[in-house]
Amino acid sequence: MKKFIHQPRFTPKGYSEEVEAKIQHYKKEGYRLPQRHLLRTAQQIEGIRASARINTALLDYIADHIQEGMTTADIDHMVYCFTTDHDAIPAPFLYEGFPKSVCTSINEVVCHGIPSTHEVLKDGDIINVDVSTIYKGYFSDASRMFLIGNVSPEMRRLVQVTKECRDIGVQTAQPWTRLGDVGAAIQEHAEKNGYSVVRDLCGHGCGVKFHEEPDVEHFGKRGTGMLIVPGMTFTIEPMINMGRYDVYIDEADGWTVLTDDGLPSAQWESQILITETGNEILTE
Ligand code: MF3
Ligand code: CO
Repeated sequence: MKKFIHQPRFTPKGYSEEVEAKIQHYKKEGYRLPQRHLLRTAQQIEGIRASARINTALLDYIADHIQEGMTTADIDHMVYCFTTDHDAIPAPFLYEGFPKSVCTSINEVVCHGIPSTHEVLKDGDIINVDVSTIYKGYFSDASRMFLIGNVSPEMRRLVQVTKECRDIGVQTAQPWTRLGDVGAAIQEHAEKNGYSVVRDLCGHGCGVKFHEEPDVEHFGKRGTGMLIVPGMTFTIEPMINMGRYDVYIDEADGWTVLTDDGLPSAQWESQILITETGNEILTE
């Protein structure tokens, strides 16, 4: 019989006995827990991290090249080429029929904007570029806002506060707290600043599939919702509106989500891994 030099930390499934004991405890108390398959194994975590590294490098690349006068189709082209050059696949492409490799959402477009050769980035625009990558079967997802030329102070503030909402959400997503804690923290920060949180779209589990459980709402009540457990990987991606939170889908393309009142909207997205001691930011 061989002796271990170090006590192995993980069971084959990838979590420690301490985590296992806590899961059993909370289960007995009647908490809503993530299904087992949502707790990633060490091998899955390595795969998701590798995908996330490409996704983050892609957003850095976009940040270096995005500029006034370019079309959103140019952004799509950059995303497609960069991703495939890294032996990866743009997850949005043909996902539920989405026709392009990236979502580009300008001003009053909340999300899921479709890149177009007719859509030119102009002075004063704010744009969300949302990229998602499949690498060796693992999924990553993130989005950032970019300011084109001279953006009004009002819109800059919206972009800044939305980023803070995302960051507060990430800081709040600690092991053994609740998804409602995350939503509440985001909602408080948005509303304190006079903005509203979009209700109709949410963050999501992401890693083994593009969109999986749980739904991660960006509003809510503390002490409610699913328990946050080490091994989960999900996105936090608040969409914050300058005006009211109501949105609608463009009938013409079936994708583009716009604000009802026509006022601007911003979004920042990160994907995180819940660890035993906190969380790890996978994408931003
Ligand atoms: N990337 C988006 C998200 O953050 C999803 C886009 S779905 C697509 O979840 F089909 F529009 F790409
Ligand atoms: Co997402």
